[in-house]
Amino acid sequence: MRDLIVVLMGGLSGERKISFLSGKACSKALRKKKYKVKELDAKGYFVDKLRKLKPKIVFNALHGKYGEDGLVQSILESLKIPYTHSGIFASSLAMDKELSRLIFKKNNIKVPKYFLLQKDYEGNFKKKIKGKKIKFPIVIKPINEGSSLGVYICKNKIEFSKNYSKLKKTYDRILVEEYIPGKEIQAAVMGNKSLGAIELIPKRKFYDYKAKYSSKAKTKHIMPASLSQKKYKEVLFLAKKAHKVLGCKGITRSDFRFFNNKFYLLEINTQPGMTKLSLVPEIAHYYGLKFEDLVVWMIKDASSQR
Ligand SMILES: Nc1ncnc2c1ncn2[C@@H]1O[C@H](COP(=O)(O)OP(=O)(O)OP(=O)(O)O)[C@@H](O)[C@H]1O
Ligand SMILES: [Mg+2]
Repeated sequence: MRDLIVVLMGGLSGERKISFLSGKACSKALRKKKYKVKELDAKGYFVDKLRKLKPKIVFNALHGKYGEDGLVQSILESLKIPYTHSGIFASSLAMDKELSRLIFKKNNIKVPKYFLLQKDYEGNFKKKIKGKKIKFPIVIKPINEGSSLGVYICKNKIEFSKNYSKLKKTYDRILVEEYIPGKEIQAAVMGNKSLGAIELIPKRKFYDYKAKYSSKAKTKHIMPASLSQKKYKEVLFLAKKAHKVLGCKGITRSDFRFFNNKFYLLEINTQPGMTKLSLVPEIAHYYGLKFEDLVVWMIKDASSQR
């Protein structure tokens, strides 16, 4: 038996359910590789439990708020337990879709045109988007969610008002952005290298929660993405650049839209889904890296002061 690995999962975010799927798939893989594994729900007094368990490494399988935004990372730093994925600073930057975009733009990575609405906004919205040169349809979304939770495509002012009032109840800061038609391309980075890029063709209106997690939604996965060799290389380069400029570690997945021969980066995920059906494992599998070996790589890559 090797040293104890604690797989942190669940937690307090809207992605709690998905995190259990990621966490359980990873602990199963680690057990298969003969690691001693304990699963721990990052809820309630989990820090006490973690301290008592004295793990050699924490595999962070959390998604979303607290698990992906630097909070759990700072707890692990203060406990001096090595952990997987990005460190405190990169995690918080990546989780904030506005802050990360400022850095992407500065580094010549194209993002959709967007602006931020505070929840108490009551001005003339039509005038506002015109001023920003954005036309309907638009996309509105919380600044720090995942799994497409709270993402709405709005065809007109009426749809915007309806969905914005829903979002306002839960979120303080809301992004308003231009809708980018075209292809949905997501690219994985592993350490210092880009792994590959996959294309998603949802049967639903867009790549929403159901299209992501329900096999019944029948989203088509095209691996490798149907791009020219040149464009495939370009998206891998952009994903690696996004990973690097935010100072990410371990595995990340960058989500793009590809339209008029240009890539628009929507966001980078520092704790991408790790269920057996998730995209990073699918990309890795295509390049001959088994799920178990991907998880073991992440354990070996774990460290403190990330
Ligand atoms: N500006 C846009 N133009 C077109 N489609 C968009 C846009 N923004 C979001 N979408 C659609 O909504 C999906 C989710 O958006 P986004 O990646 O920003 O949300 P998320 O909740 O952070 O997702 P994740 O599950 O990757 O964490 C995208 O994959 C895309 O299909
Ligand atoms: Mg996304």
